[in-house]
Amino acid sequence: MPRTRRGAAGAVLGLVVLVAAAALSAGAPARAAVACPWMSRTLSPGKRTAMLLAAMTTAQKLALVVGVDPHAALGVADGPLYVGYVPGNADLCIPALTFNDGPAGVADLQVGTTAFPAPIAQAATWDTSLQRRFGAALGLEAWEKGIDVLLAPDVNIARVPENGRNFEGFGEDPFLSGQTAAAEIAGIQQNPVIATVKHYAVNSQETNRYYVSSNVDDRTLHEIYLPPFEAAVKQAHVGAVMCAYGLVNASFSCQDQPLLTTVLRGQFGFPGFVVSDWGATWSTVASADAGLDIEMPGGLFYGGALADAVASGAVSSPTIDAMASRILTTMFRIGVFDEPPPALASVSATDVSSPADQALALRVAEEGTVLLKDDRRALPLDLHAGETVAVIGAPAGFGDIRAYAGGRGSAFVAAATPVPPLQAIAARAAKVGASVVFADGSDPVAAAALAHSADVAVVFAYDHEQEGRDRPDLQLPDAQDELVSAVAEANPSTVVVLDTGGPVLMPWLGQVPAVVEAWYSGQRDGDAIAAVLFGDVNPSGKLPQTFPATNDAVPTSSPAQWPGDRQAQDAEFTEGIHVGYRWYDTEKVAPLFPFGYGLSYTRFAYSHLRIARMRSNVSVSFTVANSGARPGSEIAQLYVDDPRVAGEPPKQLAGYDRVFLRPHRSTRVTITLTPRSLSYWDSPKARWRVAHGLYRILVGSSSRDIRLRGFLRR
Ligand code: BGC
Repeated sequence: MPRTRRGAAGAVLGLVVLVAAAALSAGAPARAAVACPWMSRTLSPGKRTAMLLAAMTTAQKLALVVGVDPHAALGVADGPLYVGYVPGNADLCIPALTFNDGPAGVADLQVGTTAFPAPIAQAATWDTSLQRRFGAALGLEAWEKGIDVLLAPDVNIARVPENGRNFEGFGEDPFLSGQTAAAEIAGIQQNPVIATVKHYAVNSQETNRYYVSSNVDDRTLHEIYLPPFEAAVKQAHVGAVMCAYGLVNASFSCQDQPLLTTVLRGQFGFPGFVVSDWGATWSTVASADAGLDIEMPGGLFYGGALADAVASGAVSSPTIDAMASRILTTMFRIGVFDEPPPALASVSATDVSSPADQALALRVAEEGTVLLKDDRRALPLDLHAGETVAVIGAPAGFGDIRAYAGGRGSAFVAAATPVPPLQAIAARAAKVGASVVFADGSDPVAAAALAHSADVAVVFAYDHEQEGRDRPDLQLPDAQDELVSAVAEANPSTVVVLDTGGPVLMPWLGQVPAVVEAWYSGQRDGDAIAAVLFGDVNPSGKLPQTFPATNDAVPTSSPAQWPGDRQAQDAEFTEGIHVGYRWYDTEKVAPLFPFGYGLSYTRFAYSHLRIARMRSNVSVSFTVANSGARPGSEIAQLYVDDPRVAGEPPKQLAGYDRVFLRPHRSTRVTITLTPRSLSYWDSPKARWRVAHGLYRILVGSSSRDIRLRGFLRR
C-alpha cells in the first residue's frame, strides 16, 4: 500500500486501501490464490516469477512485451489516458501495466496533479533528501492516477546548451545528475510504482532526434553519459530503463547489444526491464537479442512480427522467457501485483494534488532559485510604505494555464498557478504598504515609462524550451534583451527574474544590479519568487549548468558537434570528456556564470580542511561557518583534480553537502571519497583505474570559487 502519504489525506487513502485489501482477501483473491499460487506475498519475486512463467504460454509471454493502444484497450474515445498500456491477464492474475510521464509531475493531460518545478530547478537545489521527498510525492500521485510505470527521471547530460529538453534533465555533471536521480527514484519506488530512468543513452539534442548518431568514444560514454544510469541502477534499484531515440556510434540505442546487455546488465547488474522510447524500436530480432524488453507504444516490431520470429526460431524461447521474466520480477518486486493502482476510469477526474505536495513544490522552487547577481544590495527588496514596484513581463501575469512555469512536450504538466508572480509580489508588497503596477512588456516604451515612474522594477524574461526542437541560440527570444535594457535604462533599480529552462545570454547584465534564475518553477512559482525577492527565503540554489558568455564560447560550438554533420545525421562528440565546466576549465574560457555558482543574502566561510585515509576510502572534512547576518543554506562542493595522467580536466565534482546555518554558527562537513571518485575509465582494459600520483582536493562554494585546497597521494 502507499507508504508515503502523511496526515489526514494519508489516513483516508490508507483506509481505502485497507478496505480494498480486506475485500480482496475475503472473496475473489482466495480464488486467485488457488488459481494463481504466485500471488502469495510470502514468496520471493524470483520464485513468484518462476511459478508464473511456468504457467504461461508463449503467446501470453509475448503479450507482455508490447504496448497496445490504451484507447482501444480501455474503450475510451479520448480524455486523459495513459501514454502506454500493456493489458493484464485476469486468468493469470497479471495486472495491466500503465505508463505515464513524467519528470516534473504526473503529465500527459492528467488533471488534478501537482506541477512541480522542472528537473533543472530540482537539480539546482542540490538537496537529495528533498529530491527523495519529491519522488515519493510524485510516485504517490502517479499511483493515485492509476499509473504503474512513471517515465522519469531524465538523466541525459546537458552537453548542448541549446537542447530543447535542457529543462528536463539535471544539468551537465554526471555525479550531481546521478545523485539527484537516485534520490528521486528511491522516493518514487517507495510507492508500488516503477520508476523509469531515461533516455539510455546519450540523447543530447532534439535536432533530428530520431536519427542523429551520437559519435562518442568509450571513455566519454563511461565517464560522462552513463554514470547517472549506473547510480539509478546500483544506488536506487530503478525498475525500468527507457532506451533512447537516435543512435550511438551508428547503432540504434534500442537494439544496441553492448549498451543494453554488456554495460547495463553486465557492468551495472540491472535486473529490471528496458522499454523503448515511443517509436524508438527499429527491429524485431536484433532488438530482442540486444535486450529490449518492451516496445512502445507498440505493435510494429514486437507484435505479430515477434510471434513470427519466435515461431521460425529467429528469436529463441529463452530470449522471450528472459524478457517476460525481467518484466514480471520487477512488477513483483515493486508491488504492482500486490498493490495495483485504481483504474483510471475511477480517478481520471480526481484531484490528487494534496496541500503537502503543493508545499513541496514551493519548497523545491525556493531552494532551486539561484541568485546570480546582487550588487549594491539591490536584493532583498527593501520597500517602504507608499513606494511602487513595476512588475514587467509576460511570465509574471495571469492565465489559466501558465506558460513558463514548465517546459513543453511529454514532461508538460498543466500548471494552474494559484498565485502568479504579479499577484504574489503585490500581496507581499502590500504588507509594507507598497503597491505594484504591471506591464506585460509587449511594448518596451510603455514598460520603460512604467519602470521610470516606480521605485523598483522587476522584469521577468523567458525562453522557449520544448521537446522535439532545440533553441536556435542562447539569446532571449521575442526581443526581450531590448525590453530588459529599456527598463534598466529607465530605472537603475531593476531586478531581472529569469524563467528559463537553461542558460541564456545576458547582454544587459552590466546595466542591472540584480538577476535571479527562477527556472520553470511549477505551480507555486509566484510564491517562491516573491519570497526570494523580499528576503523571506534566503536564496541557496546553485547552477547545475554553466552559463556561457556568448553563443560561441561553448563546448559544442562547431556545427559538426551540434547539430551535427550531414544535416544533423552525425553529432561528433569531439569534446570528449570535456563537457560543461570540464571544458571551460580545460580551455580556460571564462563563463558568464560557472557551474556550482549561486549567491546568498548571507556569507559563508570555509576552514580547517582535513583529509584522512580510511582503508580504500578517503574522508574529507572541513568547517563551514555563516559569517553574515541572516540564516541561510550553503551548498559546499568538493572537486577532485586528478594527476592528469590521462587527460583529465582540472576538476571534477566528487561530493557536496547542503548545510543550513544561523548567523555566526558553523558546522563540520564530511564527504567520503571512494576509489571510484578518483578513477578514470581505462577503455582498453574496460575498467575503472586509479592513477598513481598527486590528487588535489578542492573545496568551495562553486566550481570557480575554491576556498580550501589539500593534497592526496595515490
Ligand atoms: C519522449 C519520452 C516520453 C515518451 C512518452 C517521448 O517522445 O522522448 O521522454 O516518456 O515520449 O510520452
